[in-house]
Amino acid sequence: MGEEKQVKTAAIIGGGVIGGGWAARFLLNGWNVRVFDPDPEAERKIGEVLGNARRSLPGLSDVPLPPEGALTFHEEMAEAVQGAAWIQESVPERLDLKLKVYKGLQEVCDPGAIIGSSTSGFKPSELQDGALRPEQIVVTHPFNPVYLLPLVELVPSQANAPELVDRAKTLLMSVGFFPLHVRKEIDAHIADRFLEAVWREALWLVKDGVATTEEVDEAIRMGFGIRWAQMGLFETYRVAGGEAGMRHFMAQFGPALKWPWTKLMDVPQFTDELVDMIADQSDAQSGQYSIRELERIRDNNLVGMMRALKAQNYGAGAVLNQHDALLRPGALPTLDQADLSQPILTLARAVPLDWTDYNGHMNEAKYLEAFAAATDRFMEIIGCDMEYISSGGSYFTAENHIRYVNEVHAGEKIEVRTQMLLGRGKKLHVFHSMYAGDMLLATAESFLLHVSLETRRPSPPSPEIEAAMARIAKAQAGLPYPEGAGAAIRKPG
Ligand SMILES: NC(=O)c1ccc[n+]([C@@H]2O[C@H](COP(=O)([O-])OP(=O)(O)OC[C@H]3O[C@@H](n4cnc5c(N)ncnc54)[C@H](O)[C@@H]3O)[C@@H](O)[C@H]2O)c1
Repeated sequence: MGEEKQVKTAAIIGGGVIGGGWAARFLLNGWNVRVFDPDPEAERKIGEVLGNARRSLPGLSDVPLPPEGALTFHEEMAEAVQGAAWIQESVPERLDLKLKVYKGLQEVCDPGAIIGSSTSGFKPSELQDGALRPEQIVVTHPFNPVYLLPLVELVPSQANAPELVDRAKTLLMSVGFFPLHVRKEIDAHIADRFLEAVWREALWLVKDGVATTEEVDEAIRMGFGIRWAQMGLFETYRVAGGEAGMRHFMAQFGPALKWPWTKLMDVPQFTDELVDMIADQSDAQSGQYSIRELERIRDNNLVGMMRALKAQNYGAGAVLNQHDALLRPGALPTLDQADLSQPILTLARAVPLDWTDYNGHMNEAKYLEAFAAATDRFMEIIGCDMEYISSGGSYFTAENHIRYVNEVHAGEKIEVRTQMLLGRGKKLHVFHSMYAGDMLLATAESFLLHVSLETRRPSPPSPEIEAAMARIAKAQAGLPYPEGAGAAIRKPG
């Protein structure tokens, strides 16, 4: 369904932690991905990142992502970059190495392609120095895990045309990123300068024996870390200023800047003793988990927080909603597009991580959430959309009956198809079937009544809704009454 989109190709130069994350994000958003990395372990390492990404990324979205692209590994850099629209360089953070890589790839790549560098610290003008086509190279600095976190710092220099910057923004947004245009190039861009300051301060606190690594982490994650994740720094402080807002906050805490509240000017010496102390404390704090386990804990938490922000349409959650809006057109059929003689597709998505239990299976309550979304879609199809609801009419659910047939895991694609058993007057009776591929997962039978939102009492729907239901009833008349419809839990004995 929807328009046939041409599959684009991304080349990933350097497939470590960060390159692997880029590969996963492009691939799961429907791009073909070609990887060049001389490390013989690269394929295995990217496979691990991809496994984590497949489990966590597709379910962030409430609509299906495009079909996965093709992933290939190449022994020659030239082969990987030819014909690629986006080339992402994520080789180790050494300027001489990065410059050598650009030289090699600019000799063979499409001059119209965008070359993004994942560099954490170098300025774009440093990366462009001596390049064949400086205007083609920009900094696109992502955050780990690249397949989940929306931020990419997009840092151009004077050498880059505004057209290229705009094109980069559009492409990054199309794969779900939030490109933050850093207007003035500076070492370490914006976010890493900030992280560097916090990192230095934390090292001092541990070195001076004020806090352990665990206590530093508790100080962040039990309080201001949660606050930062939704409002950042300035908006949070504005609220902290009370009714008088930011001015009051600055007047109150401004003087503290002159007090000895920070050691930021100084860097602790990285002696063996300090490194051992930090590494030992970190082992004591988190050594019971493998890195893979920690990655999964991190991803579960990130997905849970981001989807909570999505419900509030705020911060990173608003970015997810914008990405869904790009994907939504054509994802589900309308009344005129659907084959009305069959059950109608009313939900298509991947199971999000926050719908699963500790055992990795979808939680029983979440089946109802999925079926409720399918009911909402069925209502939209017959004309009970937001506009209709705001005009004063809607359907209220009177009864649901769910049967659980098979289990399903995070990241798996599910679909709901809906048969209308009765749609006449104020009564609407539907039967939903949920599938993963051909496998039936669950069914839900729902009975709804049309109500007036003013009187809160049952009332007849609009003639248009009546007509749409009559159309479906006629087209679906040939379908057998579903097995399981009208069932109830039998009285024991
Ligand atoms: N790790 C982070 O948290 C993070 C976050 C944002 C940005 N970055 C930046 O991303 C870049 C890569 O960092 P990383 O953490 O993924 O490092 P990494 O060591 O995990 O991966 C680097 C990869 O590049 C490969 N490589 C080395 N030489 C190459 C060459 N000539 N051509 C192609 N591949 C080559 C290596 O084999 C390795 O797989 C750096 O510039 C870093 O500053 C890192």
